[in-house]
Amino acid sequence: MVSLSKFPDFDYEGALPPGCRLPLVMNGRHERTSPPELVEQLRNHRQEHLLFGWERLDGPARQDLVATLGTFDWRELENLYARRSEPAKLPDLAAAVAPPVEVEEPDAALEALGSVALQRGRVAVVLVAGGQGSRLGSDLPKGCFPITPITGKSLYQVHAEKVLALGRRHGVTPPLFIMTSPATDGPTRDFFARHHHFGLAPDQVRYFQQGTMPAVDLATGSLLLDSPGKPFLAPDGHGGCLSALENQGHLAWMQERGIRSVFYFQVDNPLVKVADPNFLGRHLRAESQASSKVVPKRSAGEKVGVFVSIAGRCHLVEYSDLPQRMAEERLADGGLRYAAGSPAIHLFSVDFLRRVASGSGENGLPFHVARKKVPHVDTATGARVVPDRENALKFERFIFDALPQADRWLLVGVTHEGEFAPLKNGEGPDSPDTVRLAQSRLAATWLASRSVRLPLDERGDPLVPVEISPLVALGPDDLKGLCLPEPAEGKPYLLDDPDNL
Ligand code: UTP
Repeated sequence: MVSLSKFPDFDYEGALPPGCRLPLVMNGRHERTSPPELVEQLRNHRQEHLLFGWERLDGPARQDLVATLGTFDWRELENLYARRSEPAKLPDLAAAVAPPVEVEEPDAALEALGSVALQRGRVAVVLVAGGQGSRLGSDLPKGCFPITPITGKSLYQVHAEKVLALGRRHGVTPPLFIMTSPATDGPTRDFFARHHHFGLAPDQVRYFQQGTMPAVDLATGSLLLDSPGKPFLAPDGHGGCLSALENQGHLAWMQERGIRSVFYFQVDNPLVKVADPNFLGRHLRAESQASSKVVPKRSAGEKVGVFVSIAGRCHLVEYSDLPQRMAEERLADGGLRYAAGSPAIHLFSVDFLRRVASGSGENGLPFHVARKKVPHVDTATGARVVPDRENALKFERFIFDALPQADRWLLVGVTHEGEFAPLKNGEGPDSPDTVRLAQSRLAATWLASRSVRLPLDERGDPLVPVEISPLVALGPDDLKGLCLPEPAEGKPYLLDDPDNL
């Protein structure tokens, strides 16, 4: 451990005006500390190495470091590190049963109920887009990735156009909250601004940044430095949206405006039916606090979380935590017993989110610990270390940990083909190729329902790319009454918004 005596010119009084006390927020708790107390804290927690390179930092960099260090909850970090080898706290899976799943069939009365909620402005949309997209390997936020099969619209554009289409249809545009992280915030705002918010009014798009957590050295528990003066910080998981929404006043803002339901989804799925009236109607009819879409697991080994019911509560078990015996258990008809896979699409009541967000301890959601490779500065030598094996712990919260707190919950069964094609990898499964094909396939089925038949290959996939703008149709019913062109042999089939032409 590096000692403070190594930093003779650590002028903490110079880091901030003398006597200045910093207001600090850590996981929603407001705390105050001052530089001398901070140095004492570093010493007490054996984290003095974080001052490495202090003598070369300029005034603003010193202030930033002092402010950042002041936000850390040392006790929480020490607890997380101490529990690093404990198995994740799991619900009592011995008591788990397959949960009831309602099938999402067309239902005019339910759809009317959902539509009225949209017309009355009772719904907000929350898109989480703070992830690092490391598997995809793009420099820009994943939301900027061009994904539609013909026009190459970005994921952000697809989602924004769905929100815009809802507004055109129902007369009220639900506010679109986009959760960013320090890495995705600037580029996301720039992207939306550059594209004129894809037709939305600028104030209909509301950005909010999620929190971060430091990465900790696996062997020692020391926090890692990204560069001198900069502890390595990673976004605190999609579950971080709860504390960020609450602490930044967005849930209160929603309540003040009479918004009662939040539609939550993730940036990587272009097939998502944003705030669809059928799902909303079911959620409202059941007076549910937390409703989730479900896709059938396609194989025992498929890497999706599964919903189970334990003592009447809904839990989502990550695929890595599901015992093999349960993953493989079959029903008499040969189907998987635990088949309720999660596409990460939820509807929450605002009251419920506020209750969970203001819950005791860590804003109601626990941290999960993951072992990762984290490049960093070796504070003994100053050398940059690029590890070839996992060397660090990262801490994240998951939104689905809120589900067991719901007294009334609902699962609604949909299909992969209709609603779930996540973009995760650069190639192979869940890659741009598979996600583009999934969009073409879905658009082709909508067209087939209107008797427009595209040539298919032996697997039933369209031979040409097919794309329907969300501004033209959000589902096959929207194609009714449109004069649809016949496919031209070998040509892509595009139904675009006339305003884009
Ligand atoms: P993933 O867990 O798939 O992560 O996120 P990712 O960032 O997209 O990709 P990898 O794992 O680095 O390759 C699922 C969703 O949760 C969001 C992501 O933006 C994505 O919409 N997310 C994830 C956040 O908003 N914040 C986080 O801290 C983590």
